Amino acid sequence: MLTSCCMEIISNFIVFEGGDGSGTTTQLSLLGERFKKIKEPFFYPTFEPTGGQIGKIIRSALKKEITVKPDTLAMLFASDRNEHLNGENGIRAQINKGAFVASDRYVLSSLVYQGIECGDELPVFLNSRFPAPEITLFFDLSPQIAVERMNRRYKNAGSSHEMFEDLDFQVKVREKYHSLIEIYRSKGARVEIIDAEKKPAEVADQVWSIVSQMPIINTKLNADK
Ligand code: TYD
Repeated sequence: MLTSCCMEIISNFIVFEGGDGSGTTTQLSLLGERFKKIKEPFFYPTFEPTGGQIGKIIRSALKKEITVKPDTLAMLFASDRNEHLNGENGIRAQINKGAFVASDRYVLSSLVYQGIECGDELPVFLNSRFPAPEITLFFDLSPQIAVERMNRRYKNAGSSHEMFEDLDFQVKVREKYHSLIEIYRSKGARVEIIDAEKKPAEVADQVWSIVSQMPIINTKLNADK
């Protein structure tokens, strides 16, 4: 499952994955702070669902403003991803311009969330042509803590929960990430597990210890010494 042999890997591309409330968005912005100090390569942070037209439909479905069937949602996520990756200013285009791209969510999110919702067959099929990033970082956190974090965030913002954000679902999400990571690795993808229960600054240090060793960054850091 997942992909056939000889999976394409895109260099200079990293993906942050995790359950809801695992801190991927915060960590992407903290990684951006480190890049301000090194300037090159230029940092291109991005996310899924995207801010494009397909991503907007997805966000409406997640907020329960519109109702779509789970398999329709799986197809929307895959369509959004295709534009995100291959579109005019997409991930490939940015990398070709010399960027270091970091995406908040990518293929594994669909395999996990839509896998739970629709069964594995459809999301595996829809995502089989997408290449893997150079590294995937999985932000691992107990679902209980993640849901408490989200409850606090929503209380402060006065907003309500989106689809997928209840504890029972998040318990399944964590289990499925762990089982899929093993399969993804066996196909040649590199996945690192980050302890996301630590304080944000400590989590950011774990992220940087991995990112700073990636060839595109490491070469630059050594040249600056
Ligand atoms: P995200 O934007 O990371 O959450 P937040 O709005 O809390 O920052 O993702 C939105 C939701 O979409 C999240 O519950 C995960 C889900 N999702 C999928 O179900 N499949 C996918 O392929 C992707 C990218 C996200």
